[in-house]
Amino acid sequence: MLDIEFRAATLPDTGALALLLPEDAELAGLAAQLDAACHGAIARAIEAAEFKGKKASTCAILAPGAGLSRVVLVGLGKPADHTLRGMEEAAGLAAAALSRDTHATLAVEGMPPDHAAHAALGAMLRSYRFDRYRTKEAADAKPRLKTLQILTDDPDAAHAAFRGPLAIAHGAALSRDLITEPPNVLNPAEMAERCRKLEEHGVEVEILTPRELTEQGWGALLSTAQGSANEARVVIMRWMGGTPGERPLCFVGKGVTFDTGGISIKPAAGMGDMKWDMAGAGAVVGLMATLAGRKARANVVGLVGLTENMPSGTATRPGDVVTSLSGQTIEVLNTDAEGRLVLADVLWYAQDKYNPVLTVDMATLTGAIIVALGHEYAGMFSNDDALAAKLTELGAATGEPVWRMPLGDTYDKLIRSDIADMKNIGGRPGGAIIGAQFIQRFVRGPWAHLDIAGMAWSTKDTATIPKGATAFGLRLLNQLVADHYETAE
Ligand code: BES
Ligand code: MN
Ligand code: ZN
Repeated sequence: MLDIEFRAATLPDTGALALLLPEDAELAGLAAQLDAACHGAIARAIEAAEFKGKKASTCAILAPGAGLSRVVLVGLGKPADHTLRGMEEAAGLAAAALSRDTHATLAVEGMPPDHAAHAALGAMLRSYRFDRYRTKEAADAKPRLKTLQILTDDPDAAHAAFRGPLAIAHGAALSRDLITEPPNVLNPAEMAERCRKLEEHGVEVEILTPRELTEQGWGALLSTAQGSANEARVVIMRWMGGTPGERPLCFVGKGVTFDTGGISIKPAAGMGDMKWDMAGAGAVVGLMATLAGRKARANVVGLVGLTENMPSGTATRPGDVVTSLSGQTIEVLNTDAEGRLVLADVLWYAQDKYNPVLTVDMATLTGAIIVALGHEYAGMFSNDDALAAKLTELGAATGEPVWRMPLGDTYDKLIRSDIADMKNIGGRPGGAIIGAQFIQRFVRGPWAHLDIAGMAWSTKDTATIPKGATAFGLRLLNQLVADHYETAE
């Protein structure tokens, strides 16, 4: 991972340097000093490139003098854009532009310590890379950036403000590793073992095996697992950093390590994407690592339902009726609508066992949510207006936006079955809502469901996320805990 150091704001005399510049501002401070040291080369480059400091604009100047290999200017935009998130994005773009140098410097002088800390976070998030299976990449093709010095007015205060953001960077890297791993490596048992590693950070980890799941009656989850040679697991991760005995928050993730569709098999094109059908679970695991990493003063239980969805002679048939952990029966008319079966049992267990203050689940549940919202917002469904409002607000602040979708009896009618308590599909129109409606039948207290199918994987680089797994949802729920459910120090 990228190493971060906070230093007092003095001009470096070697390596690469990035400056974050507000829109339409005169060169001041370090930027002015640098320009003088380079005999006006910075001002001339700004003029020639017509660089105005607009948000997300960049300008790279090679060998400007003063011993530097390159100077990268990144626009911060208007004062309204100088938010923590704005700092992350600008620093993420800077980190990408600095990746040819091993050591680089990023100046954020004049900004408060938490802004410096979030700049560091943005640089770390953008520098993430999954390298495990590359054996032949030429050294000069690899990004080189190893250490980034952040120049700031108060390095000690910035370092102190960096505790939480650093825990996010590590948690997000864990999520992205899990989501990116190929499905032959990351089967349910392997993912459970990786969850077990959170014990090193003070998380209590409990793993349920098929024997226990069968004995306890997890019939919905097991109906998806039964076609696979790889056994299911359910992992429960407890971080009890709050008041002892106080009711926890529960965060639940869909962890289908590969979704072929089962007997209702998917078309071949794009099926490889279904390795990241465990992104909800991946985000929950990274979230638990983040909460533990920053020693969050809250009681939080993370639960993930891990299974593969495969076709075989032992697989569930369309038409089978199964009994869920709640006792409610389900007619499985499409084995590709498996995420809701998994969530039905995990959600029921979470509420039954932990009596949580609230429950949020995250799942790559439907293709239909991508049709509805594209890759701009996750779909959010909730039975609690206050919770929905919090998630909407925090989504915008953390760069993980959610858009509320409706629930209601008229949708619920669509999953009535002729022979069981419900069926697992209800027609194409409103497909994401029907999925949420199904899940709601297994929910009692305050709850929100995030359908992250359109947000879990990015096909292009963004300011703070290289293309690939995004860890969407981790930051949003971490902020929900931080802003609303932590006890004072
Ligand atoms: N994992 C898929 C949803 C999905 C699609 C996630 C594309 C990410 C990208 C889910 O299990 C699924 O197959 N859903 C079906 C539901 C349908 C059968 C009611 C779908 O969306 O087609
Ligand atoms: Mn499916
Ligand atoms: Zn799925």
